[in-house]
Amino acid sequence: MKPIGTPLSPSATRVMLLGSGELGKEVLIALQRLGVETIAVDRYDHAPGQQLAHHARTITMSDPVALRALIEAERPDLVVPEIEAIATPVLEALEAEGLVRVIPTARAARLTMDREGIRRLAAERLSLPTSPYRFCDSLAELQAAIEQSIGYPCIVKPVMSSSGKGQSKIDGPADVQPAWDHAMAGGRVGPGRVIVEGFIAFDYEITLLTVRALGADGQVETHFCEPIGHVQVSGDYVESWQPQPMQPAALARSREIASAVTDNLGGQGLFGVELFVKGEQVWFSEVSPRPHDTGMVTMITQWQNEFELHARAILGLPVNTTLKSPGASAVIYGGVDATGIVFDGVADALRVPHSEIRLFGKPESFVKRRMGVALVHDADVERARVQAKLAASKVKPRRA
Ligand SMILES: Nc1ncnc2c1ncn2[C@@H]1O[C@H](COP(=O)(O)OP(=O)(O)OP(=O)(O)O)[C@@H](O)[C@H]1O
Ligand SMILES: [Mg+2]
Repeated sequence: MKPIGTPLSPSATRVMLLGSGELGKEVLIALQRLGVETIAVDRYDHAPGQQLAHHARTITMSDPVALRALIEAERPDLVVPEIEAIATPVLEALEAEGLVRVIPTARAARLTMDREGIRRLAAERLSLPTSPYRFCDSLAELQAAIEQSIGYPCIVKPVMSSSGKGQSKIDGPADVQPAWDHAMAGGRVGPGRVIVEGFIAFDYEITLLTVRALGADGQVETHFCEPIGHVQVSGDYVESWQPQPMQPAALARSREIASAVTDNLGGQGLFGVELFVKGEQVWFSEVSPRPHDTGMVTMITQWQNEFELHARAILGLPVNTTLKSPGASAVIYGGVDATGIVFDGVADALRVPHSEIRLFGKPESFVKRRMGVALVHDADVERARVQAKLAASKVKPRRA
């Protein structure tokens, strides 16, 4: 990588974020602190990261023609995908043409853009433990897969979806048709394919933030953050904390699995490896080749948060994954469907000891849209969880 230059001059190091929501916004902040010139791309105007980047561009990132035209016009040094819904074949082509470097690699972006690529890689090529699964293209195939191999209970998810959209648990035959209909309504691209997974009765689930960064010798080294525990409601994260206490054998196994997946995906950057744990047993669930929503807790728990780690790793700079203090995060939802909302109670939230609040600045609120997050550090991680939820509950979004 060439040395970091001066933004808005010919020497600038230019980084394009594909996706500029709350996670992209923090990556942009971290990059700007290192003197990088930033281009924030999203599908709508005034996305959180667009409000602070040097340049804001609005396109449909799943449109291959629009995506190629934008990258060719801007010629950034690095393209950093921050969401899954991107025309990843274009990234692969541009990377192959030597026109851009994609973070961590264009192949990683393609394999993780839907559930099938990454699941087949993890289970079938790397032989990592996962839930039993089948891919289905119709209700009849789904019924057959459950009856013949997966059994009850199981979980159905559109192959193209995130944050739990279109996902449901099936406890018996009567649930199959509604689950199929829900998946068809919630997938990202039209009617399509689902994965059905056997239900894993885990004790807890973690995100293991794993960083591939250059060492002093110029070789990639793998670093792990302390495990992050989290609670998901209908497939969407509502609270997270760090560290999640783990048996040493389960932690060692988790690191092995995370290494196997991230070594294969390659490149430089931070990954969020999602794992299910029961006793000493660990299952791979999925991986984001980018900062993870549950990792927002690191904004208060680590010396270098996950966004700073990502920024440093992609620029070839050294990283430090050490914990600063245990802590927790709790999501602040919109609570109303409206544009230009206001937030009451922020001062009350900030009076909760050791708390911080982030409001993302999204132009439009939905009842279940993540609009902010409360963060609390405390030597006792359980107390941090209680206090983070308390702080989040003090913030009251309402129509302006
Ligand atoms: N096979 C399974 N067994 C038990 N629980 C599961 C299984 N698959 C998913 N879950 C639960 O549902 C949550 C969301 O699943 P998953 O991560 O696959 O969906 P997602 O839409 O990608 O969510 P996100 O984008 O928030 O990561 C998991 O974190 C876990 O709590
Ligand atoms: Mg997930």
